[in-house]
Parts: sequence; C-alpha cells; structure tokens
Amino acid sequence: MDDHDVPLSVRAADDRENIGVNPTSGARFDTMMAARGVAASDARENLGVNPSTEPSIDDLVAARFGRRAALKGLSAAATLAMLAGTGAVGALSPRSARAATPTGGSSLTFKELPHGYDEDHHVAEGYQAQVLIRWGDKVLPGAPAFAPQALTAAAQSAQFGYNNDYVGYFPLPRGSQSSDHGLLAVNHEYTDRQLMFPGIGPEDQDKQTNEMIDVELAAHGHSVIEIKREGERWSVVEDSPYNRRLTALATPFLVTGPAAGHDRLKTKADPTGTRVIGTLNNCAGGTTPWGTVLIAEENVHQYFRGTGAATAESANYKRMGITDKPAYDWARFHDRFDVSKELNEANRFGWMVEFDPYDPASVPKKRTALGRFKHEAATTILNADGRLAVYCGDDEAFEYVYKFITTGKVDPANPAANADLLDDGVLFVGKFSADGALRWIPLVHGQGPLTAANGFNSQADVLIEARRAADLLGATPMDRPEDVEPNPVTGTVFMNLTNNTKRKDDRIDAANPRAGNGHGHVIEMIPPGERGKRDHAASEYTWDIFLLAGNPANPKDGARYGAGGVSESGWLSCPDNMAFDNQGRIWISTDGAPKAGIADGIWAADVEGPGRAVTRHFYSAPRGAEMCGPCFTPDNTTFFVAVQHPGDEAKATYENPVTRWPDFKPDLPPRPSVVAITRKAGGFIGV
Ligand code: FEO
Ligand code: CA
Ligand code: CA
Repeated sequence: MDDHDVPLSVRAADDRENIGVNPTSGARFDTMMAARGVAASDARENLGVNPSTEPSIDDLVAARFGRRAALKGLSAAATLAMLAGTGAVGALSPRSARAATPTGGSSLTFKELPHGYDEDHHVAEGYQAQVLIRWGDKVLPGAPAFAPQALTAAAQSAQFGYNNDYVGYFPLPRGSQSSDHGLLAVNHEYTDRQLMFPGIGPEDQDKQTNEMIDVELAAHGHSVIEIKREGERWSVVEDSPYNRRLTALATPFLVTGPAAGHDRLKTKADPTGTRVIGTLNNCAGGTTPWGTVLIAEENVHQYFRGTGAATAESANYKRMGITDKPAYDWARFHDRFDVSKELNEANRFGWMVEFDPYDPASVPKKRTALGRFKHEAATTILNADGRLAVYCGDDEAFEYVYKFITTGKVDPANPAANADLLDDGVLFVGKFSADGALRWIPLVHGQGPLTAANGFNSQADVLIEARRAADLLGATPMDRPEDVEPNPVTGTVFMNLTNNTKRKDDRIDAANPRAGNGHGHVIEMIPPGERGKRDHAASEYTWDIFLLAGNPANPKDGARYGAGGVSESGWLSCPDNMAFDNQGRIWISTDGAPKAGIADGIWAADVEGPGRAVTRHFYSAPRGAEMCGPCFTPDNTTFFVAVQHPGDEAKATYENPVTRWPDFKPDLPPRPSVVAITRKAGGFIGV
C-alpha cells in the first residue's frame, strides 16, 4: 500500500497528479488533505527528531555515482569496469555466462516487456501467467462460492481474503525442496470498501453496516493454501487439512517476548496482556530457517479511533499516526478499536507475527522482541555463528531500518528447538554516515538515553515505543523502508526505499540523496566478511546506493542505474518488495509506478558484474494495482506474484471499476489475486 496516510479516495488521484515528480508535490498534497479536514499531517508529525545532514561534496558525488565510487573518486561505470576486470565482484555463474547477447551487460536474457498501463496483466514473451487464486475463492472446507452482491463475514472467513501482499512458498513434504507441491502463505493487507461493496463509496464509512465491517475484518489477515503443479498448471488443493485463514475478526494470537503481559498491553477482554484477537494490515513478511512464516503488521494506526489525549499513551499514539478520523471506522461496532473505550488495544498491534504454516492448529505469536512500528516485512539469514539475523523496515516517511539478532543459535536439526528463538535477542536501528559506514545501534533498556528519565522503565517500554527509542539514538530517517532482504548468494542486504516526496532540500543526506524523492531508491548494505561468511551480527557495515529509480530520459528524476544502462522499458519507480533467484539476482516489485505513467510490475537485475543494477522489465500488473509478493519455488521454475488492489483508481467503484481483472465478467468486480508465472518451454525463470 502506498501513501498510507492518504484516504482511499484520493490515493490514486494523487498518484496520477504526481507525474513528473518534483519537490512541491508533497506540499500541494498536504494542502489538499488539510482542505478535506483529513489527518494527512500524520507523516509530518512523525518526522522524528534527527538533525538533518548537510550534504558534503562526497554526498553529492555519492548521490550521483554511488558511495564506494565517491570514496575512490571514480565514476560508477569506471568502478564496475575495474572490479569486473579483477573478478572482485565475483564471476558470473555458468548459466549466466552461457546467456546469449545480454542487454546492458545483464545475465538476464528474457525479452523485455514494454512499459504500458491497461486493464490486463502482461508477462515477458515466452512466459505464461496463470491466476492461481482470487479474492473470494474457497480456502476452507465448506466455503461457499464467491457471491460479491451478498458478502457475509461467515463466507469471507472461509474464503481467500482481500488485497494479497506477501507470498511465501513452503515445500511439501516439510524439509524438502519440492517445487511442484507446497503451501502458499499469503497476507491480506487491507480492504477497499468502494471496490468490495455495491453502493459504498470510498469515504462511506458511516453507511457501512455491521456485517460489512465484519466482512472487512474477515478479509484481513492471512491464508494458507496447499498447491500442486501438474505439467505447467498449478492448482489449489481443495479441502486440504493445511488450508487455513487467519482473520482480524476471530483468530486468537499470543503475545510473547519482553512486552508480553505488560500493563500497557492489558485490556478489559484480556487482563493477561498476552491474548489478542486478530492481526492487522499484514503487508510483507519472511520465512525462518525452521519453516515458519513471519507476517508484518504495518499501518495499524488506520483502524483505531481516538488519540488517547491526556493519557499516558498520547505521545505514543501520535507517533504511530492514530487519529480521530481513521480510514476504517470499525469502532462504530467494535469498542476495542475506540481508544477512548479501550486505551491499550492499539499497543497490541504493530508487531511481527510468527506461525507455523505446516501446523494448522498452531497459535500465531506476536514477537515483541522485534519491536513495535509499521513493519513492512521481516527477512532472515543464518549468521555464520549460528545466530539468526532478521531485517525489518518501518515503512513511513522518515522512519528507520532495523535488524534483530537472536541470543540463541539456530538448531538446524531440530525445528522445535527454535520455536521461541525470536523472543530473546537484541534489536538494532541503522545510522548511515556519509563516509560509507552503517552503524547498528542497540535498543536496550538502560543504555544511553533509553532510561526512566526518558519514560522507558523497562525493555517492554523500549519495544512498545521503538520509534521514539530510535529517535533518541540518532537513527537515520529514511525514504520509507519497505522490504529489506539479505541476498542469499552475496550475503549483502538490499533495502527498497519506496519514495518520500516530503523530503526537502534541507534534509537530504548521503543515504537519502534526493529531495522530493518520488521514485525511490535501493540501498545495498554490506556486512563485514567475505561472500558466504559475512557477519550479520556486526555493529558496523558499509553501504552503497544500488540504484536511484525514475526515468533516465527525464533529467529531473535524477535516476541512476547500472553502468550498462537500462532500456526504455527497464526503468522503474517506487520499489517495494523483492525476491532473489538462486543466482542471487534481484527481482523488484513496485508500488506507485502509475504516477510516473507506467503500470506497477516486476523488474529484475544482476547485483554483480557488468549487469549490476541494469533492471529489465518482466511483468506488469493491471491498472490500479500494486505489485507484491514476489516468490520463487526452490528450483526457480515458478515465480509467484501478488496483484493487490486491481482497479484502485480515484472514482473507481464496484459499479464502475476501471478493470474487471482477472475475470472480465460484467457481474464480477476486480479481484486481488495471486499469479503463478512459468516459462512456456519450462525451466528457469529469467535464464
Ligand atoms: Fe504495505 Fe509498505 O507497503
Ligand atoms: Ca508500498
Ligand atoms: Ca509493501
């Protein structure tokens, strides 16, 4: 979801109006929001307290040519050419080396898809894109057929939810590398009422019935489905015992870790402070080496009404963007979403959730040790010393990037021994320096400013207000960290910074070098050590800008890609999620490219060699949709993507959608769906 502080009705309009992004677009948008009496000031109020960093000459060179190049006084092209010549960036894999006529030095040989923006999705020539499951399709046994004119909470609770985002693939049998039989674990981030319910406009919260609200609650959460591939076709296994729905309406969750049971998490319904009904705004996610899934609670502020003014939570809730005018007025029928009636409920959301998709009876756990903020995702890598590193972004303008290092070591032979590993460890926040250093600062109660003098009486307080703790530690405010993910081949960590039009000239810094950043950028974080042996527990990394998104043909964008140059369809805007293939190449999905006149979709690039950061266009989503969930099977022969909110443009409604993808039937609305992409000839994706 893009521009989270924007009401649904104006988000798409704002996207379109921002074509040819410039630094003034944010201000104009704010003015528009203020005129509507909408709390678009959320992001401004949450700017944090970090001092802005004046750009040095190094910063400006780095912004233009990349951090490491700046340090050497070389252009990015010269640096890459030199490194490629010495082999310092690693040899291309044999498969890459065999690739015919690479474009711009890329090892990827698929024929690029032209840019476009229309009612359908498209994939590169030679590939096929199959719709696997849609909003409303059957998940649980006994689920009724999709009946969009008469949605019920009971039906929705058994059907595939709305707005699929994260997609994780879990092979069957467990522990295998099976790539034709597995489980898909899929997040359902949020709902678009104007596209779900006949007669309901985007701001018609007050016209929604109790049943409609409960449909929304049931359409949030998560689905687990068993899937099988026969030939080139994937299908959902009906009535599988693995199939499962988690909802915001009825699913019980446990709270674990240092904040579990804390007074600030206790409610009338749960005096233990450990048992929560539901999960909210599950955006992206991740997997653990022991086969569990991590699902992120992102924009949880938009479900709670009230500010908690004159209470101890006032500043905390303001920092999270909770207001009197939420995007979802569920409080009309559910007291727990009314802050004036249940002050602490909002402290029970904004966490990372872990559960075992292989065990349909497993109780999902909110892992408080990973902190509370607007979690985009959580991705993991096993450190050489046996501990697990988890990377997390906090997706809002001027928020931070975090990592978590477990205290205990992963036991690869015994998954059960790792069951609560994420309850004990240290959370760190990132501070980027213009000299190319990245320092990880621990959020530990009693250390530095994280003491009672600043309102932190325990580690639970530090975790509940992780953002405020990170402010005090001097973390670097970033341009909206979305996915942050370790590359399993290089061991370096990539971070998609989706955009930040609110960044002004006087707040640019080396890691966020563009004012009015409408297109976003990608940063590579480099732990010390050699390939395959990098130390993710280290407190100091280096970093570099991988690419600055935007259209290179438009000098105002200030875009920069790899030295080989991108094709006219190779540029992208607003990177959000990512996946790595088994050669370590990055596959980026976008959310917000329509404001630059092109559909959201998938772009892929090498991360090393002459094709580094030479992005190539592979797939495009239908109009109104963002692209989410990129995920490969272990053998890289199937690529799953999630098409979220197809048709979500201003003025689009259930009755008058701008697309009816994927069914294109006059009585069916657009439906968020998961898509399985394979090569027509079979074999590896991308080649
Ligand atoms: Fe839900 Fe940060 O996108
Ligand atoms: Ca997004
Ligand atoms: Ca996202």
